[in-house]
Amino acid sequence: MLKITTDDLALFETGMLVIPVCEDGNLSRSPVVGSLIDKARQFREFKGCAGDELMLYSPEGVSASRVLFMGLGKKEKIDAESFRAAAGKAVKRAIKAKQPDVLLCGHGKKEHVLAMMEGALLGNHIFDLYKQDKKDKPVEALVFHVEKARQDAFEKAAPAVETGCRGTILARDWVSAPPNDKRPDMFARSIVKAADRENLTIVDIDERNIRKNKMYALLAVGSGSDTKPRMIVIDYRPDRYEKTVVLVGKGVTFDSGGINLKPSSGLADMKQDMAGAAVVAATLITASRLELGHRIIGVLPLVENMPSGNAYRPGDVIRTASGKTVEIGNTDAEGRMIMADAISYAVKQYAPDILIDVATLTGACKMALGNHIAGVFSFDSRLAGQLVASGEKTHERCWAMPMPEDYRDMLKSDIADIRNVGKSRWGGAITAALFLSEFVKDINWAHIDIAGPAFSGKGSAYCPAGGTGFGVRLLMDWLGRL
Ligand code: BES
Ligand code: ZN
Ligand code: ZN
Repeated sequence: MLKITTDDLALFETGMLVIPVCEDGNLSRSPVVGSLIDKARQFREFKGCAGDELMLYSPEGVSASRVLFMGLGKKEKIDAESFRAAAGKAVKRAIKAKQPDVLLCGHGKKEHVLAMMEGALLGNHIFDLYKQDKKDKPVEALVFHVEKARQDAFEKAAPAVETGCRGTILARDWVSAPPNDKRPDMFARSIVKAADRENLTIVDIDERNIRKNKMYALLAVGSGSDTKPRMIVIDYRPDRYEKTVVLVGKGVTFDSGGINLKPSSGLADMKQDMAGAAVVAATLITASRLELGHRIIGVLPLVENMPSGNAYRPGDVIRTASGKTVEIGNTDAEGRMIMADAISYAVKQYAPDILIDVATLTGACKMALGNHIAGVFSFDSRLAGQLVASGEKTHERCWAMPMPEDYRDMLKSDIADIRNVGKSRWGGAITAALFLSEFVKDINWAHIDIAGPAFSGKGSAYCPAGGTGFGVRLLMDWLGRL
């Protein structure tokens, strides 16, 4: 889908040529581009400011039947995300204009051109599996025009960008899938099917084995559903590797809240509650395709949280796989229950160098950081800093949150070792993270709460409404630098 060309821009036949433009100065040295931009600036509505867009039809000097100018703003303020977003928006316009191919002008810094490639690939994703009338079609060829001297470099770099974006799109599709089509057994099958094609070992742990492993917290959360919980383990083990990393992903295929039933507004969006598992599975598949140099193990507890005569209750005391007992204050705080058992299993089986868990864990984190930023919780400020840095690079932004020891008091129970919710609702993202920390033992650990950015109600520059795949590019960047 992604192609590189150095052919003459003026003679290149395409339905749409896309040119990024800044407000002050030039991004390209090409005289052809220069004179097109001069022409665009003659229109008073286009200055190259961030958000400015101008389409010219069959302008002189090029064979392209359309030229789309994308304003990025002031040169000193432009970053990789400006290019990513502009390319995403441009490709969306190409889809609307029914163009089978687009030629994008990739004449800037290498990092910026790679970001444009990401934006174009991700912006070309359409989730229409459930539509009979698939009126929008993705662009078939995203062609990047680059300078001759950099052709080799881009031809080498492009496949990895494409593989990374495929991973993000895989995670998006899982998250966007309706909950009746991804109940734990179905989601497990879908993950196994996707991972089977790769160089990965899969362990499928069914209800009997979950019980054998004493994961009673996972069983308790699943007890209200007719579809029993599952746990999938995906192991990527290259011949030679340095570190062992475990990634644990929350896989609640639908979170009704259970007996503490959620209010009906927004309930349908709770199909997103398996985004952590989707992101981890997609990251493992991507890591294997790109042959990363670490052993990476994905641990995915999959369960549906439903109210029923068999459901677990507020007031219940559940023995977790670690042996710790938990008093249930709220059945809607189910994510931390299944994560506790999955983390205990991972620590015992693999004793990893680093464990990272990814979960749509708390509404409180979404309240604190909004729809576009994940919370990172870790006792290791270096690890948290690395994740924040990868977030900057990929624009899957993370913010390091505090882990105050004294807040642990809020999780005290009169009758069990711990409660699954804090006594007060304030600081809910922190008490959830502190709850998880009870199960990681002495392993170097970080928790990423993606309740805010996992799902987008209305879509963005390079993402349709639905699952965002937030976390795949973040984790891939972090793993690549480890
Ligand atoms: N799955 C939710 C958290 C969530 C909220 C994810 C919004 C995505 C978007 C989680 O299981 C939950 O319900 N948490 C409760 C915890 C509370 C009962 C302590 C919450 O955040 O309200
Ligand atoms: Zn819940
Ligand atoms: Zn949940």
